[in-house]
Amino acid sequence: MSNTILVGAQWGDEGKGKIIDYLTEQADIVVRAQGGANAGHTVIVGKTKYILHLIPSGILRNRTTCVIGNGVVIDPAGLVEEIDGLKQNGIDPAGRLLVSDAAHMVFPYHKALDAAREALKGRGKIGTTLRGIGPAYGDKIARSGLRMGSILNAKRFVEQLGQAVRDNNILLRSLGARPLPLKRTMDGVLKAARRLRPYVTNTVQLLHKAVAAEKRILFEGAQGTFLDIDHGTFPYVTSSNTTAGGMCTGSGIPPTMIDRVIGVAKAYTTRVGEGPMPSEDRVVGDLLHGMGREYGATTGRERRCGWFDAVTVRQSARLNGITDLALTNLDGLDTLGSIKVCVGYRLGGKPIDHQPSDLAQLARCRPVYETFPGWQTPTDKIRTWKALPPNARRYAKALAKLTGTRLSHASVGPGRSQTITL
Ligand code: GDP
Ligand code: IMO
Ligand code: MG
Repeated sequence: MSNTILVGAQWGDEGKGKIIDYLTEQADIVVRAQGGANAGHTVIVGKTKYILHLIPSGILRNRTTCVIGNGVVIDPAGLVEEIDGLKQNGIDPAGRLLVSDAAHMVFPYHKALDAAREALKGRGKIGTTLRGIGPAYGDKIARSGLRMGSILNAKRFVEQLGQAVRDNNILLRSLGARPLPLKRTMDGVLKAARRLRPYVTNTVQLLHKAVAAEKRILFEGAQGTFLDIDHGTFPYVTSSNTTAGGMCTGSGIPPTMIDRVIGVAKAYTTRVGEGPMPSEDRVVGDLLHGMGREYGATTGRERRCGWFDAVTVRQSARLNGITDLALTNLDGLDTLGSIKVCVGYRLGGKPIDHQPSDLAQLARCRPVYETFPGWQTPTDKIRTWKALPPNARRYAKALAKLTGTRLSHASVGPGRSQTITL
């Protein structure tokens, strides 16, 4: 048995797509189990850059089966667009991509509701990706959502969708937003739904059969630990469990069948959207934005940047049971003479070694920094651990020690080959 969960250990965009693509070489099946098209996972293969939102990054290796599990919320039109985008690049997901019949759907009214609620919040907005994620999960929890399996009964689906659009138009009006045109909205969804029918199946059964046949499963977490609906910086979070447990509920594979949990973290910290980020620092932002880096893969927004926060990643290691740490974007720090790491917080003058769950307290946490010497050498062409500058090795090892993890990978560029395995 060799089933691996990979999760983001920070606030998302840690480089999960890149590491998944690298690890897929040793996997038979790659599974997405939560989130939706709010995710943007960048993978660079040769000269082509792919940004995957719903389809597992494993699709880029031609012998891998990819599963979109029951815990994901799927925008049918978005998924069709993504399939077509891959086809244009010579990758046909047909036969290799399977979509859970129990996954809930995201409809145009979910996106309109997302925008309407954000607008109503004004300055208190969450800064969502406007992909309809919160409203779709809301319908799931309220037991009023529609699941992918319902598209298999075309006649009934037309009735269910019509009713849902009408009901949600009432809701949109009550929020001061414009209702959606019934026919056009339905036509768009129905057209996409017809295309997706061949992909829909019972993925829980499929995955259990695969485990019995000793296939190796890789779970591709989306978002990051501190965007988790329970463990993140609520309410500035997403609406799913982004931590390791979410991969089990979102796929039907139990914790006893998991062998390894890899946490992916950047060698510094980034965050998109609102919410606290104790180690945020202009110096890091100016450096990375100056290099044209750290713009969102889904929304194009400038990411907020800061120093590596060992308090959050250590907490993430505990929440996820991280065994291995994949450290990405080490090369982003190549030019710095010295590098700060947040090793603890002070709250009201007292030291604190974890993120308080109360947001007001977290906002008052002041980072305690330790300074490490930089290496001031380009690392992007380095392919072995031993060839890395000694200060880069010391820095990476120190981060693993501070977070109570084992360093398993160091990434020095966005490409497949720019990955060092320890
Ligand atoms: P994900 O959502 O976790 O898959 O991450 P994103 O794709 O949203 O953002 C990560 C960004 O960093 C992408 O532009 C990647 O191509 C890039 N990236 C990943 N690892 C590295 C690395 O080690 N070095 C550099 N320079 N870029 C990286
Ligand atoms: P990947 O998988 C970074 C953030 C949004 C916002 C909050 C809620 O690429 O790492 P949502 O649209 O989910 O309701 O937005 O969560 N967010 C992400 N930030 N990476 C992501 O995904 C994200 N998905 C959502 O910016 O702050
Ligand atoms: Mg991303």
